[in-house]
Amino acid sequence: MENQHKNQKETLGEKGENLIELKHVSVSYGGVKALDDVSVAFREGEIVALMGPNGAGKSTILKAIFGLAPLSETSSENHSGIYWRQNKISEEMRQPHHMVPMGITLVPQGKRVFGNLTVLENLEIGGITLKDRSLLKERVEEVLQLFPALRSKLHQKSRELSGGQQQMVAIARGLITDPRILLLDEPSLGLAPKVVQEVFEKISEINKKKGMAIVVVEHNLKSLLPIVHKAYVLDKGKIVVEGKGQDVVDSGIFKKVFLGALE
Ligand SMILES: Nc1ncnc2c1ncn2[C@@H]1O[C@H](COP(=O)(O)OP(=O)(O)OP(=O)(O)O)[C@@H](O)[C@H]1O
Ligand SMILES: [Mg+2]
Repeated sequence: MENQHKNQKETLGEKGENLIELKHVSVSYGGVKALDDVSVAFREGEIVALMGPNGAGKSTILKAIFGLAPLSETSSENHSGIYWRQNKISEEMRQPHHMVPMGITLVPQGKRVFGNLTVLENLEIGGITLKDRSLLKERVEEVLQLFPALRSKLHQKSRELSGGQQQMVAIARGLITDPRILLLDEPSLGLAPKVVQEVFEKISEINKKKGMAIVVVEHNLKSLLPIVHKAYVLDKGKIVVEGKGQDVVDSGIFKKVFLGALE
């Protein structure tokens, strides 16, 4: 699997190709339509923000990609579905244990780390799909270079770390498999503004150093916009604005969406 992933990297097409594309995707939970005909594209090397109020459907987009949310009936007429590098992902393949070897990792909302395990054990869990122990060691070393503050804490129980440090562990754990695209659900949740800034700086650094595509879900954080290449704003399961960070700010959508003026 690992070799397959490397080979895929070597035979990479042009920079900027679509890695993941959602075409006309809908998700319903019982009577609740969490996503309503959503089309988005995440390209190689891009940082993309998914923004919008509580319940807008942000997490559902990431879960749908990762195989953790049910898609409504797809239609062949409009080619609806989720695509990985131009190929539609079948329902059989749309499961976390297939997504990770393909090069997609999800760092879910809120669930940070296994508190009773050490930092190192948490990182190793991220590499559970890597069969080769020496490769795992290499990857741990690589992520420690990105997050040097974790090095002195490797053998400490994760619950003893601060909230910001735990979030760094969660992100580092997501990086162990060296994904092509990292899906981060509210990495700033519950963190102080200064720590949020640090998390965003790390995201930007990972993107620049490794050319990794990163999709980051956030509520209403204009401070995220300067580091992103593209942003989508969701409201009630629909994309209401998309564009470059500044375009989104200029659209005035924040005021409308967050004050409920789109009712
Ligand atoms: N497992 C589930 N069962 C039933 N309804 C769900 C489930 N998960 C999400 N929903 C509903 O789907 C809608 C979208 O939820 P989602 O978690 O995607 O929102 P979100 O934009 O991530 O919100 P938040 O900012 O609060 O995390 C909400 O109305 C939510 O109640
Ligand atoms: Mg969410």
